[in-house]
Amino acid sequence: MNTQKGRVNRHRTFQTLVPAAPARFIEVYAKLTEYNGAGPASICGRGCSFFGEPLGRPFGGGQRTTRHMNIAKKPLWTEASAAPGTIGKSVIDCIGNTPLLRLERVGPNYPNVEFYGKAEWFNPGGSVKDRPALEMIREAESSGQLKPGQTILDATSGNTGIAYAMIAAALGYRVKLCLPASASEERKKILKAFGAELVFTPGDEGSDGAILRAREIIAAEPGKYFYPDQYGNPGNWRAHYKTTANEIWEQTAGRITHFIAGLGTSGTFVGVTRRLKELNPAIRCISLQPDASFHGLEGWKHMATAIVPGIYDAKLADANLEVGTEEAYRLVKRAAREEGLLLSPSAAAALEGCFQVAASLGPDERAVIVTIFPDSGTKYLSERFWDEV
Ligand SMILES: Cc1ncc(COP(=O)(O)O)c(C=O)c1O
Repeated sequence: MNTQKGRVNRHRTFQTLVPAAPARFIEVYAKLTEYNGAGPASICGRGCSFFGEPLGRPFGGGQRTTRHMNIAKKPLWTEASAAPGTIGKSVIDCIGNTPLLRLERVGPNYPNVEFYGKAEWFNPGGSVKDRPALEMIREAESSGQLKPGQTILDATSGNTGIAYAMIAAALGYRVKLCLPASASEERKKILKAFGAELVFTPGDEGSDGAILRAREIIAAEPGKYFYPDQYGNPGNWRAHYKTTANEIWEQTAGRITHFIAGLGTSGTFVGVTRRLKELNPAIRCISLQPDASFHGLEGWKHMATAIVPGIYDAKLADANLEVGTEEAYRLVKRAAREEGLLLSPSAAAALEGCFQVAASLGPDERAVIVTIFPDSGTKYLSERFWDEV
């Protein structure tokens, strides 16, 4: 009704401004409208007043030319052509389907090997963790474990927290997070921006200290919170089983020979490996860990000295390799300068793991190695290694 009124008004405006539009102008107008089928609105932008008149409509006053009548046959502006809520995407819809990047220059020593990294920073929360956070929240909603009005509480070194905070804001839940005080400043600021309540635990206790604190808070007030427990929740690895693994399979046209990923909660490695092994049992799946209990690979766990996540299955990996923090830092810089890729330390560590695997192959062995780049370097720019290594 209003739209109709607006249209009538625009006709009037046009008539007032151009009482008798010169023939040449009408000709040009007609050409423009034919040109891209979108009409002058798209040529001069929506700000243009009378040019904004939808195509195929006669100029006011009934000056219809044959040309205009022809145009009028193909409606280019249809009202209600899409139902409300079907145009555009929600932030939730943008999770997953990340690009698979081909690394062109950092692996010249291995001419028979193709290296690929799944650029998980393309998720709206900036990391791989959007996937499991969404899956755990959706599963909990379906099972009734998460009810409207409850607060989501978990322990996280940062990325999962950002994912919870973003998704919860989009879905209307509150979030409380326990995280080591040593987590990067960038992460803390992002969490606060999404409105999350933060509980800091001692930095030297790492993610384990945060897990213990989360459990204490739940025990004190059990009904108040939904505790996804990303370390013990099968929804974590299921997210990767359902999405990440199938994307890798499709993006490599089934050519993948090796899958390599770092272990944190282990959700990525466990979920992707389970699915890839179903698709082709010959794919070698190799897990990576830091080479020491005290390390700089945010998001990774040194399993021998950490609380082992409930969802971790040590039998899944064909091999398990160790990566040093210093090597990862060096590769962060190389990837930025040689590939134009701003990787996080854990993404660079995953790439370092790919090089270890490539080095173990026979001289003529061909391989298509895929790893996960969990996030980009943007949240680590204030770290000292940029000036040191
Ligand atoms: C930066 C980063 N790298 C790697 C990982 C490990 O992924 P997952 O927890 O699925 O094992 C995480 C997990 O938090 C992470 O934040």
